[in-house]
Amino acid sequence: MEQTKVIKPETLDDLIKTLRKIYERGRDKVNVKEVQSIMEAYESKPQEWEKFAYFTEGRYTRNLVDEGNGKFNLMILCWGKGYCSSIHDHTDASCFMKILQGQMKETLFEWPDPKLPAGMVQKSQRVLLENQCAYIEDSIGLHRMENVSYTENAVSLHLYSPMFKTCQTFDQHTGYRKEADMTFWSRYGERTPSGFQRCCCRRL
Ligand SMILES: [Fe+2]
Repeated sequence: MEQTKVIKPETLDDLIKTLRKIYERGRDKVNVKEVQSIMEAYESKPQEWEKFAYFTEGRYTRNLVDEGNGKFNLMILCWGKGYCSSIHDHTDASCFMKILQGQMKETLFEWPDPKLPAGMVQKSQRVLLENQCAYIEDSIGLHRMENVSYTENAVSLHLYSPMFKTCQTFDQHTGYRKEADMTFWSRYGERTPSGFQRCCCRRL
């Protein structure tokens, strides 16, 4: 795989420019480890991303930061205290997730057999610390993300390529799946006018 030298992005804007350049090659020529290293190398500075970070009661928010010249979506997710996602897939996309603030727990699950209703099988669990960057795609499994802290908010930066608008969510006890729309709470720092976000989250 092609790989340019990892140069530490000093700012969020630098990081976006570097990611755009990498994805110009085409998604199949992108090296996962390279993107992960570059996203980890950026040291989170709240003053650079707080304009995108909208928190609200009752759900986590998805906030669009950049559309990567049509090659990827970069977004900031804001997790209030104790909030988590449903168990979900990633619609055949590549997904990177970097922690900008706080800590997030990732629980990985096996894909359930649609013909055999049963509790979902947990594969592993880990805690991601500030500035760490994780990677997932459907061949790795399904996951749930949680801000396990009841005292601190968490903020994460996600890159999805290609972009996708729906995903599947899974019931942990039955493996039952359903489609979920994924919308933005804000775009480029501006609150999305519809004001409505159907998302797959719930309080712990
Ligand atoms: Fe995810």
